[in-house]
Amino acid sequence: MKITVLTLFPELFEPYITTSIIKKATLQSYVSIECINIRDFTLDKHQRVDDTPFGGGAGLVMKAQPIMDALDHVRTPDSHVIYLTPVASTYTQVKAKELSTHQHLILICGHYEGVDERVLSMVDDVISIGDYILTGGEVAAMVVMDSIIRLIPGVISSESIISESFEEHLLEYPQYTRPEEVRGMKVPAILLSGHHANIEQYRKEQSLLKTMKYRPDLLLKAKLNEKDRKFIQKHVNKVEK
Ligand code: ADE
Repeated sequence: MKITVLTLFPELFEPYITTSIIKKATLQSYVSIECINIRDFTLDKHQRVDDTPFGGGAGLVMKAQPIMDALDHVRTPDSHVIYLTPVASTYTQVKAKELSTHQHLILICGHYEGVDERVLSMVDDVISIGDYILTGGEVAAMVVMDSIIRLIPGVISSESIISESFEEHLLEYPQYTRPEEVRGMKVPAILLSGHHANIEQYRKEQSLLKTMKYRPDLLLKAKLNEKDRKFIQKHVNKVEK
């Protein structure tokens, strides 16, 4: 997969793409990432990338021409073009999976009050990462890239992907590692028992409890068996909010 980021601040991406799993994914050629400076596509001598909004109002709007020309420069028939904006439906793991199948993603990062609306005529998708306003699309682009790159087969173990939160619409169960006791708090004994069926059942119940506590809305979509339903009924009044 190739990911091209169109941004006014390519330097923001440097530490992110040269660290940890993303660095490894690029070195092992699972993904190649290029960051293009939209300012390089300005045509005036002041390299102006923004201007005041027609109709008045606060702030500055990113001009269409530099973004459109940058897009023409990097786009191929295989490209899927995404604009990061709070004015879109919210990003999910399902969307991450869908995007991880594309050959080439182009992520356009807005700044200031967003981009001239006519840029949207050239994009395939708009994505918001949540109901809050960021200073620009760069952090959102990193969130989207991160969630997609880790899904590329080989980047991380496929087992980690299968058993994680949002698979089956349940939050993930709690994890523990050595030592067995930290500041008087012990690892649940069942996890040390070596009894795989009991551990699996315990983890399922912990998943249900976490989901009941933090994301009860997800339970409507989860595939629950009779045992799960009984467990929920028994614990519904005991979950602290
Ligand atoms: N740009 C500014 N806020 C954003 C958000 N919540 N999601 C995506 N892009 C953004």
